[in-house]
Amino acid sequence: MKKFIKNLPKAELHLHIEGSFEPAQMFEIAQRNKIEIPYKSVEEIEKAYQFDCLQDFLDIYYQGASVLITEQDFYDLTYSYLKKCANQNVRHTEIMFDPQTHTERGISFETVIKGISKACNDAEKQLGVTSLLIMSYLRHLSEEDAFKTLEQSLDYKHLITAVGLDSSERGNPPSKFKNVFDASVKEGYIPLAHAGEEGDADYVWEALDILKIKRIDHGNNSLQDPILIQEIINRDIALTVCPLSNTSLQVVKNLKDHPLKKMMELGLKVTINSDDPAYFGGQVNQNYIEIQKALNLTKEDLYELAKNSFQYALIDEKTKQKYLKELNIFYEQNKN
Ligand code: HPA
Ligand code: ZN
Repeated sequence: MKKFIKNLPKAELHLHIEGSFEPAQMFEIAQRNKIEIPYKSVEEIEKAYQFDCLQDFLDIYYQGASVLITEQDFYDLTYSYLKKCANQNVRHTEIMFDPQTHTERGISFETVIKGISKACNDAEKQLGVTSLLIMSYLRHLSEEDAFKTLEQSLDYKHLITAVGLDSSERGNPPSKFKNVFDASVKEGYIPLAHAGEEGDADYVWEALDILKIKRIDHGNNSLQDPILIQEIINRDIALTVCPLSNTSLQVVKNLKDHPLKKMMELGLKVTINSDDPAYFGGQVNQNYIEIQKALNLTKEDLYELAKNSFQYALIDEKTKQKYLKELNIFYEQNKN
């Protein structure tokens, strides 16, 4: 099964680039930039990665991101992640980045976007991994602040495909960002959002009805509401599920209790993703491996999940068909 998963062509649709920041690289970049961090070694950073809810995690995650200063730092961070994609047969990835995490510290939008997008271009040429960018607004900040970010992004609109919404969910409902999402859509960005990770089903309703999102990040708590489930199916909207993130943040107590299989049986379109792989114990393939074991998923289930990852990617039809064909050939040759 491990070999099947390793070679399975797949896409990753839910990945925060700041969450791919491995301790060793964080340590190296902190030293390079002469930034004091409260850890004396890579091991100390690793030890600090202990959290049992979204907020505890976010506190550490924002602190880690604060050593990123130059365009080269963003380039190195992104290229490292894309190399891991190539090693896992992740053929395509949709990378979220949080501009406000950096602009709040005085780093320019330009520095962030140029470093990330240059790495994406190089990786496509050198590694054959395609990617696109999702600019994510931080929901613990104001809508006004998100508007500033939208404004800063406009010179780089050609480099950004979609907008997202992340950070502390409870108390920050999607409706808080209605106007900035409307404005983002007018600029041509596709609307996406985290919803139903810690927030209840009504947050998912708001994300669908008010923000008009085209894909739901996490969406676990949609299962609280059968009418919502049917609505998600009717609108043909996929969920980007992140199993190891869910257990790390105690959204799900144990992988054996994870609702992924139930979601599939209900007819929801589910994909498997890593979210913040440096923090949650594994890259996307590790998520496939551990959830397969916990829920006893078949090769057909895994094929279905990988198929969804291409089907619901924000790529053009021709590229989508190319990847689906590659997946189908692989499956036909390896399903028995
Ligand atoms: N949830 C919300 N915000 C985030 C996450 C997450 O899992 N990762 C990075 N920002
Ligand atoms: Zn996320």
